[in-house]
Amino acid sequence: MKIRDEDFIGFAELVKTKYGIDLTGKKYVIETRLTNYVLDCGYNDFSEYLQSVYADRSGIEMTNIISRITTNYTYFRREDGHFKHFSEVFLKGAEKTVYDKDLRIWSAGCSYGNEPYELAMLLHDHFGKNELGWDFRILATDISFNALRMAKRGVFAEQAVDALPSDWRNRYFNRHVNGTYQVTDEIRTSVVFKYHNLMEPIEFKKKFDLIVCRNVMIYFDEPTKEQLVERFFEATEPGGYLYIGHAETFPRNTGYQCVAPAVYKKPLKEETVNE
Ligand SMILES: C[S@@+](CC[C@H](N)C(=O)[O-])C[C@H]1O[C@@H](n2cnc3c(N)ncnc32)[C@H](O)[C@@H]1O
Repeated sequence: MKIRDEDFIGFAELVKTKYGIDLTGKKYVIETRLTNYVLDCGYNDFSEYLQSVYADRSGIEMTNIISRITTNYTYFRREDGHFKHFSEVFLKGAEKTVYDKDLRIWSAGCSYGNEPYELAMLLHDHFGKNELGWDFRILATDISFNALRMAKRGVFAEQAVDALPSDWRNRYFNRHVNGTYQVTDEIRTSVVFKYHNLMEPIEFKKKFDLIVCRNVMIYFDEPTKEQLVERFFEATEPGGYLYIGHAETFPRNTGYQCVAPAVYKKPLKEETVNE
């Protein structure tokens, strides 16, 4: 089913303003992803459906559309360099600099949870069973309620889990009779999943030692990306890091220093002075 050009323009503007997602050139993709849903809901065409979305004050229908149009593609061991940096540089440094042992990590745009769960497994590997008094629950956020629902369950196909070290299967997953693997309660409770729209202010209580926002900003245009990176910078502890996707471009003059491919550090005050 086709969307009329004027309907698409209005819809794309709303999605960009509210969620940052740039739908330029994506008319066909949107038609493909939404047609069955719109017909199943009993509407005759997109115009009729979009009118009801705009009239829905609760915003529920808009969140339904967003769950359908976001690209949630993710997998374990995606861009492995970050996980190496996490274990070998970030955690070793944090042990020396995070004096209150309250490590703040945020997976922003976490999709089905592979990314935060993998970080949680590395944390458990690093700190061991007794955790030595460290508090390291990971915040994981997304705008897709569907992705968040699946992430909370933490159930993955065998092929997905294959990418991880083989001993993690026994340590961090329970095998179900149907052959799927569910992340253990210990790991699941290390990750707190929440709805958060990256276009909105970052109002979490403490600043973050690490923000992981990979393969999310590719859907945003330059000004949106610049403003988001500014908000990330404000929300990062001095000495903390931001990981972005390796294929993503990074705005200039942000205050972060690039310290490895797709790894950015907010300098400590003394590091800024020494430059
Ligand atoms: C391609 S996935 C990336 C998942 C994971 N970070 C990775 O690299 O494998 C992009 C995720 O960003 C989320 N997203 C897109 N726009 C967002 C926004 N404005 N606020 C929060 N999340 C958003 C999507 O719902 C999707 O789950």
